[in-house]
Amino acid sequence: MRQFKIAAIPGDGIGKEVIAAGLKVLEVCAQRDGGFQLQVESFDWGSDFYKKHGVMMPKNGRDTLRPFDAIYFGAVGAPDVPDHVTLWGLRIAICQPFDQYANVRPTRILPGIESPLRNVTAKELDWVIVRENSEGEYSGHGGRSHPGLPEEVATDVAIFTRTGVTRIMRFAFEMARSRPRKRLTVVTKSNAQRHGMVLWDEIAAEVATGFPDVTWDKMLVDAMTVRMVSKPQSIDTVVASNLHADILSDLAAALAGSLGIAPTANLNPERKFPSMFEPIHGSAFDITGKGIANPVGSFWSASMMLDHLGEKRAAARLMRAIERVTADQSLHTPDLGGTAKTSQVTEAVCKFLQEDK
Ligand code: NAI
Ligand code: MG
Repeated sequence: MRQFKIAAIPGDGIGKEVIAAGLKVLEVCAQRDGGFQLQVESFDWGSDFYKKHGVMMPKNGRDTLRPFDAIYFGAVGAPDVPDHVTLWGLRIAICQPFDQYANVRPTRILPGIESPLRNVTAKELDWVIVRENSEGEYSGHGGRSHPGLPEEVATDVAIFTRTGVTRIMRFAFEMARSRPRKRLTVVTKSNAQRHGMVLWDEIAAEVATGFPDVTWDKMLVDAMTVRMVSKPQSIDTVVASNLHADILSDLAAALAGSLGIAPTANLNPERKFPSMFEPIHGSAFDITGKGIANPVGSFWSASMMLDHLGEKRAAARLMRAIERVTADQSLHTPDLGGTAKTSQVTEAVCKFLQEDK
């Protein structure tokens, strides 16, 4: 029997609701498969922990997580704690030291879901966005001086290293190569950002020579938003910097039906450290505690986690169960225009997993 140690960090708000749902589903996945077991340990880190202890996670939090095979993460953010404290105190505090430099965000229109784009079908919107997740605009370089004075300055320095850009570019070309259309779009803003983004363009061209079977093109990020809306079928795999891909992937999620559906993998491709899987949405204060959070993003992230752990059959089975749920309008949560509760969607996925041959 294969054994995997999973660290669950539900975090804040609806993170707690969708991770609880996801853990139920994962348990059924393992039972149904019969070939592996998940040993889950949950950690109560997040904003409540911060209010009690003054830190988002204990000082040795990273060492605690180190031996796990994967991390299953909800969301962080609370109305009464500044967002940069929660984000840097937990999510980025895990992603950066575990060198989870490849953030992978698949987007497609699942069965039964309608895109807000008129007449766009599932076949026409099937993308993977690869986000550089370790440096760029979110590298953490910068500071503030002369606080409160008219001369006050604040900087966030975007850091682009040859190592960092080359490894994400290779990862993205590999990803594009693994997909049927073998097509990659490299997104930058190299007209206005004339140093780091020009380095991106140059490295893209260098790396491309090793992937003659992949068709690739370049887009400026502003033009890319237009292309995503007006010519979605022309896009397959996309690679962009930390900030740009953060924004593009929220747009992608909305175009595929709802932010509540979209999943993420924060990968350390070399597997020196555990990778982390999470829905892309935040803690959603407006719906916390109502039992109506869409758990599909959390389930899809769980499927990506199973896939990463090598449990391909279980990952595919979970994806089939998710698609049966989305295909049934009576199982749509309010973000999709329905009235279903998180618990109903969860029970249905568990049932479909049991029924799956
Ligand atoms: P959000 O993603 O929490 O919510 C945006 C909108 O989408 C809300 O109307 C919400 O109700 C809806 N929504 C999100 N997920 C949903 C789901 N699963 N089912 C149904 N509806 C869903 O983003 P927002 O409101 O900008 O941020 C709230 C907090 O979350 C902030 O503190 C922010 O910093 C944090 N945040 C954390 C993230 C993370 O931990 N990875 C990512 C994004 C935001
Ligand atoms: Mg985001």
